[in-house]
Amino acid sequence: METDFDISQVKIPQHVAVIVDGNGRWAKERGLTRMRGHDAGFENLKALAKHMLKRGIKIASFYVFSTENFKRSAEEVSHLMDIFVTLYKKNLRFFNENNIKVVFSGRDEPLPPKVMQARDELVAETAQNTGGIVNFCLNYGGRAEIVDAVKKIAASGADVANLTEEQFGKYLYQDLPDVDFMIRTSGEQRLSNFLLWQNSYAEFYFPETKFPDFHEADFDRALLEYTRRDRRFGMIKNA
Ligand code: IPE
Ligand code: IPE
Ligand code: MG
Repeated sequence: METDFDISQVKIPQHVAVIVDGNGRWAKERGLTRMRGHDAGFENLKALAKHMLKRGIKIASFYVFSTENFKRSAEEVSHLMDIFVTLYKKNLRFFNENNIKVVFSGRDEPLPPKVMQARDELVAETAQNTGGIVNFCLNYGGRAEIVDAVKKIAASGADVANLTEEQFGKYLYQDLPDVDFMIRTSGEQRLSNFLLWQNSYAEFYFPETKFPDFHEADFDRALLEYTRRDRRFGMIKNA
């Protein structure tokens, strides 16, 4: 879905992070099972990722499964794991045709081996692409990421007494620039443990739309909102 959209009128963030939320409620509203909501959500994710990079976003991070989401029913967790295998295995061509490099953030344990295998293959097969990065936050937790970084630093024998924020960032799951714009669909206004370090100075946006209905035109509206924001980073502007 395209809108009249004058790209010269908007600020384009470098790194946009999306909390994919509301799949379950989207399905419930339609008398469907939560599984159908996830099917619809992840079908939408591909089109949205393509559109975001087309708009000039360099990095799109998607929170697709939190470390806490393993507490959901076995049926739902297993359905989501199957979706991830399909998304990663069946869409290699999609990512390559759109020149998208795919990376992942998150822990291995307790992901099923089939998901890790599909994930690793997709990373390897898209590593040379240059049209933008899609960062899947899968089995991801912000606190887990910080703890894992500390463990890596301890194991590396780094000079902790002189460690800088910039150096710390290199021990995170991915060495990516900070998030500029964080979108959480479905009206929930919380971070739920998402990119705690990287969202430090992000602008937040909470559309009511549930993720399966959050399409290209909705993203363009989000960009207009981002354009209106005044990012100050602690400074006083126009003094
Ligand atoms: C987010 O949608 C998708 C994942 C967690 C993968 P939800 O499943 O959280 O949907 P709601 O919040 O219950 O509507
Ligand atoms: C956060 O959404 C995780 C993902 C979208 C992957 P949740 O739906 O799990 O978060 P809470 O439980 O509402 O905070
Ligand atoms: Mg939710």
